[in-house]
Amino acid sequence: MFTLLIRNCRIVQPDASIIEGDIACRDGRIERIAPAIDAAAGETVEAQGRLLLPGAIDPQVHFREPGHEHKEDLASGSRAAARGGITSFLEMPNTMPPTITQAALDDKLARAARGSVVNYGFFVGATATNVDTLEQMAPACGIKVFMGASTGDLLVDRREDLERIFATGHRLIAVHAEDQACIEQHRALFADRRDPASHSDIRPAECALKATTLALELSKRYRRRLHILHVSTKEEVALLRRDKPPWVTAEAVPNHLFLNRSDYERQGARVIMNPPIRDHEDNEALWAALQDGVLDFIATDHAPHTLEEKQGWPAPSGMPGVETSLPLILTEWRAGRCTLAQVLRWMSASAADAYGLIGKGRVAEGFDADLTLVDIDHIRVARDADMMTKVRWTPFDGRALTGWPVLTVVAGRVVFDGEQIRPGVRGLPLRYAPRPNG
Ligand code: DOR
Repeated sequence: MFTLLIRNCRIVQPDASIIEGDIACRDGRIERIAPAIDAAAGETVEAQGRLLLPGAIDPQVHFREPGHEHKEDLASGSRAAARGGITSFLEMPNTMPPTITQAALDDKLARAARGSVVNYGFFVGATATNVDTLEQMAPACGIKVFMGASTGDLLVDRREDLERIFATGHRLIAVHAEDQACIEQHRALFADRRDPASHSDIRPAECALKATTLALELSKRYRRRLHILHVSTKEEVALLRRDKPPWVTAEAVPNHLFLNRSDYERQGARVIMNPPIRDHEDNEALWAALQDGVLDFIATDHAPHTLEEKQGWPAPSGMPGVETSLPLILTEWRAGRCTLAQVLRWMSASAADAYGLIGKGRVAEGFDADLTLVDIDHIRVARDADMMTKVRWTPFDGRALTGWPVLTVVAGRVVFDGEQIRPGVRGLPLRYAPRPNG
């Protein structure tokens, strides 16, 4: 007997063609896709012709556990993710304690096994003193390097330390590319400003470009697998368009695609993040880069802080994002800005490929049964109060979006049924394919 049968859906296949039919899952996998499956199942869902996509993969989130559980924890963050159609996440090491030792990684994996309702993987954080252990800590999706300081105290800003990290081992290195010395110079220049928009002046495009240039240089010198997190400027896009080796990948975050300096006027410190939001021209350059493949995929950089914390000065950097990324992108697809094939790549397949996530990223027989069913005919306005993240707000409050998930399936079990998170469902640890250097 199948564990789950979803009937009458429009199934988006890996090549973005659509077949109308049924999909049956067993043992956590997609077992059959056919025009009609007449079989018994533990649970049968009538999809009413809605669009079935691979569960979205969010390759950059901050779920705050351990250490800052008043903002989020693995249970609440993963529930919000499931609500947003995200079935797997990769989580960052700037927790407290930071994920810079095997013990801290083991602790996070154990916490996720207990609390996460979607599949999970973790980065290990690089420091100037743990370089020799970075290759061994496992299982991990990659090494995170903060080249510029952000939330938490992880920072590797000396060239010789970065050089040692790139020279040692083969694992993927994901960089937060902002140059710390450059930020400090600008911070001194704008020390008397206290308006939210000053954040974008303190961390200008120049600082991002400097760090991205250095990361690329080191990646080429050591032929080291590099991923550039949250590219935010037209200058970095131009650099990558000229010079992006095949072993380098890069991502965009909805905040940098949809928000710009004009949002400081409307939203104030809510939209402070690192790297900061930029200008309309940068929004456009990032879209163009996604479209022609200079940028490979989309991550949310879900980084919740409470609204109370956001009212202090300096306000903490980061915004929540897991509940809105898929509707934001599907809304653009409906408006004709991108193709369904691009949506598949940006939201699922390319991140699965870049991080070597076994069994993920495609709706096809034999792949893991991580699915999201979306309603592309219904428009709903995103509202702070409707959010499931612990901090209960979104920088997209007030936006009319379509493509809201109505069903999210993790490992063949319904975790979000369109209204609530089902009790008892748990995600699984992500598994990584070995990937040769370069
Ligand atoms: O805005 C940000 N917030 N950028 C980061 O790099 C970290 C994140 C956080 O953890 O709050």
